[in-house]
Amino acid sequence: ASNDIVVVGSCMIDFVSYAPRLPKPGETIHGSEFVTNFGGKGANQCVAAAKLGGKTSLVTRVGNDIWGPKYIENLKKNNVNTKFVNATENYSTGIAQITVADTGENQIVIVAGANNQLGITDVDVAQSAISKARVLVLQLETSQDVAIRAIQLCRGISILNGAPALSEYNPQLLKLPTIFCVNESEASIFTGLSVDSISEAQTAAEALISIGCNSVVITLGEKGALYLDKNETFHVSCPQVKCKDTTGAGDAFIGALAYLLANDKDISMRKALEKSCVAAADSVTRLGTQISFPDEKILKDN
Ligand code: RIB
Ligand code: NA
Repeated sequence: ASNDIVVVGSCMIDFVSYAPRLPKPGETIHGSEFVTNFGGKGANQCVAAAKLGGKTSLVTRVGNDIWGPKYIENLKKNNVNTKFVNATENYSTGIAQITVADTGENQIVIVAGANNQLGITDVDVAQSAISKARVLVLQLETSQDVAIRAIQLCRGISILNGAPALSEYNPQLLKLPTIFCVNESEASIFTGLSVDSISEAQTAAEALISIGCNSVVITLGEKGALYLDKNETFHVSCPQVKCKDTTGAGDAFIGALAYLLANDKDISMRKALEKSCVAAADSVTRLGTQISFPDEKILKDN
């Protein structure tokens, strides 16, 4: 059986320290707690869609260390098809060092490890799954060539999450996806414009359309999200919640969007984005990424 949603991208082991605030350069501070979680933007987005009830496959690479098999087990537990997850000789599983402050804001350093070895061949092996998918999801913790190749094989909707952002990139990266989705700081790096308000986000989205994007979503944290294509533009707001950990909120948003577009062909973009904001807002009320993502009840109640 084929999967409705295929995600091509990264998986990381998250080493998370909770601290009262983010340290300054050169500073040492005491944290309160340390946990190890399954993360990485690709896997997070895939698990987000799977937890909502999506039929998902992940195309990714783990290392040949103790984390590789544990990661695959985690994906299986979350009902993700792991047929296209490969272990990579001589490379470590990707890791992310994350600090989360009491305010819920975070700082992340990733060492991509095996994710850097995800190549065109991995995409080609998954060709039939990708071409049958209703929705294909990509990010930039793996190479842009991988993302471009995958989108070229896609016959459904493709969503590229431009994270982490690139200041130099192949122009095809923006032109090929159906939806290009970034947060404010990423929008700023891709366009070179300052993006600190809804109106600046609107200007950045217009710039992205003029560079060649088919449609643009800029996520605005607790201010919701902005949508722009050649025919329409609108802003959706976000439920206001008590924020504990914003890590992976963007991934919860993208996974929900993928799920909604794959499973309800009549849904309007506005409704899909509103519901994706609800899922993302819910995720920030709990610590962690995948473990904090909501299940299908969240879409029924809202
Ligand atoms: O988007 C959140 C994710 O970014 C974390 O899980 C971490 O692994 C980094 O990739
Ligand atoms: Na969370």
